[in-house]
Amino acid sequence: MDQAGTLRRLTANGADGGTLRQHLKGIAVASGKGGVGKTNIVANMAFDLSKRGKRVLVFDADMGLGNIHILLGLAPKYNVGHVLTGSEKIKEILVDGPGGMKILPASTGNKKYSEITTEEKLTLKTELEILQNDFDYIIFDIGAGISANVMFFCSAAQDVVVVASPEPTSFSDAYAMMKVLSRDYLVKNFKLLVNSVRNLGEAQVVFKRLVMVADRFNLKIKIDLLGHMVFDESVTQSVRKQRLFSDLYPGAEVSKCIRNITGNMERLVGEGEFSWDNVMEHAGK
Ligand SMILES: Nc1ncnc2c1ncn2[C@@H]1O[C@H](COP(=O)(O)OP(=O)(O)OP(=O)(O)O)[C@@H](O)[C@H]1O
Ligand SMILES: [Mg+2]
Repeated sequence: MDQAGTLRRLTANGADGGTLRQHLKGIAVASGKGGVGKTNIVANMAFDLSKRGKRVLVFDADMGLGNIHILLGLAPKYNVGHVLTGSEKIKEILVDGPGGMKILPASTGNKKYSEITTEEKLTLKTELEILQNDFDYIIFDIGAGISANVMFFCSAAQDVVVVASPEPTSFSDAYAMMKVLSRDYLVKNFKLLVNSVRNLGEAQVVFKRLVMVADRFNLKIKIDLLGHMVFDESVTQSVRKQRLFSDLYPGAEVSKCIRNITGNMERLVGEGEFSWDNVMEHAGK
């Protein structure tokens, strides 16, 4: 590890007399196919982790069509575009979300940021490193598709959560996503989250099929089942109200699913600390 990294780790571990701090964990939530529930999952996971006392930063990595702030009923003045152009500093643009989470909003309807340049990635890295010790988790809400932006943020994270529904189109996109990430970006560990099912059994069927196909085509990846989310009217209801279902309906089945998912996440999250150096290895791709 470089000197700065060692120093950071020492400070983080209490060499400054403080208490033990969890290293920053980076989690990307992706799916390939659009509209399978990523943004709802990210926001509700962040809410639950915050409730458990974790310091969570949500990065809206759907950089041309960001909408997590809409889901939360927020109207941020600035977004990541302002950081990329150098007009604002990162700390100025973070907004407060429910439960104490912080949000880094994306620009909406700005095609320019749907494919960020290597220079812009470097600017992001430099700015975001400032926040390294301020958070326990950084969760990336990844856009649909397998664009260079998607690959960049997924390969940056320690853990990639792949969201799939039982629909064949979603299954196929989830598989394609893992194939490209493992083959071209050396991501080998994935956490599967199956959304819109009736029960855990249905999620396990999807999980087993995915593991089987990945084996058959020799992807050499490890997939863990992170959990399932039931199809639940509380999701649509809360989306319309621009509130989080786990906040508005904590007793709903789907909110229990989220609590189970974040519990598993805390248990299964990869070793080590999230580092932007890892990101830059792939920045030029
Ligand atoms: N478990 C669920 N039960 C009922 N409806 C759901 C569930 N999960 C997602 N939805 C519905 O799907 C819609 C899309 O969800 P969301 O915006 O989170 O998907 P996304 O993957 O982020 O989409 P995009 O790819 O466009 O970013 C929600 O507005 C909600 O109506
Ligand atoms: Mg989304």
